[in-house]
Amino acid sequence: MGHILAIESSCDETACAVVGCEGGFTVKSNVIASQIQLHQIFGGVVPEIASRKHIESISFVVEQALDEAGVDFGDISAIAVTYAPGLVGSLLVGVNYAKALAFALKKPLLAVHHIEAHIAANYVSSPGLAPPFVCLVASGGHCTVAHVRDWAKFSVLAKTRDDAPGEAFDKIARVLGLGYPGGPAIQESAKKGDSNAFAFPRVHFEDSFDFSFSGVKTSVINMLHNLKQKNEEIPVSDIAASFQQAVCGVLAERLIECALSVGVKNIALAGGVASNALLRQMTKSMAEANSLGFYCPEPVLCTDNAVMVAARGYFDLEARKTAGYDLNAAATRDLGDF
Ligand code: KG4
Ligand code: ZN
Repeated sequence: MGHILAIESSCDETACAVVGCEGGFTVKSNVIASQIQLHQIFGGVVPEIASRKHIESISFVVEQALDEAGVDFGDISAIAVTYAPGLVGSLLVGVNYAKALAFALKKPLLAVHHIEAHIAANYVSSPGLAPPFVCLVASGGHCTVAHVRDWAKFSVLAKTRDDAPGEAFDKIARVLGLGYPGGPAIQESAKKGDSNAFAFPRVHFEDSFDFSFSGVKTSVINMLHNLKQKNEEIPVSDIAASFQQAVCGVLAERLIECALSVGVKNIALAGGVASNALLRQMTKSMAEANSLGFYCPEPVLCTDNAVMVAARGYFDLEARKTAGYDLNAAATRDLGDF
């Protein structure tokens, strides 16, 4: 089936990858132009700036991905692109570029759902993994536990009712003065802290596996206000460690509960927050305690990239499920809906 060229531009990374799809996935190139520095001064992604930067970067990123893979357009069998969910202005840049490429090269266009792509990163890192399994996708914009019933069949078992965990990491890092993106900064600061110093709230709904992270976020912020009002020193590392413990604990526990509820044998992690060392370690040991197999992509395939888009697109190419030139970007869309 040759090579898939994939494009990802749903948030603040302009990414392009070339992935060989014969007899398993072979990553030929994985180019990621991060806009992190551009958004750093604002403490989060500014949508308008993100779309403009995608436009500036995309041609260079695609060229570099072909160069690094040592292939040219003639070697590409299909174009895969993230079309939803995400920042609509950012998504549109990738979608339009991919449509133009597919049209000019007369190659199939594959429309990829961003969360499904995060899940598919696991197939690249762990070629032995196959559905059915249950996967937690935790990132800056998403928090979903999916029952992966087949390569292209998903059911949502749980999702967040308010913030995504990455969003909470980013917000708490900002109020603690640790910078952006917050996940890696909190993880680093937490190394020096005591994770039992504070008991932040852990939400557990009685009638569902859903998540809620606004409570833990507010609780940390209120605590900081109190300390500041009293002119007391802020124990940054202890707060970071306790916050990380609370969020990762809830994520790992709920993932296991979801897996047990549908009776799968394997669980997986995906998304930017899945590169968190504590979450990986907690989930792994809880999986072992419940005799479940544990899978997780390598960190570079957890955060946004285009390799995962190629991997998800491959299953649609195989099923001859291609998109038309009327493909549009969508800010919100559930898994398995295209
Ligand atoms: O998947 P991703 O690159 O983009 C989205 O689709 O949102 O995830 C980015 C998010 C950010 O919120 C970032 O703070 C978080 O993933 N993140 C982490 C870690 N590395 C990235 N969160 C916790 N621990 C980490 N080590
Ligand atoms: Zn993502």
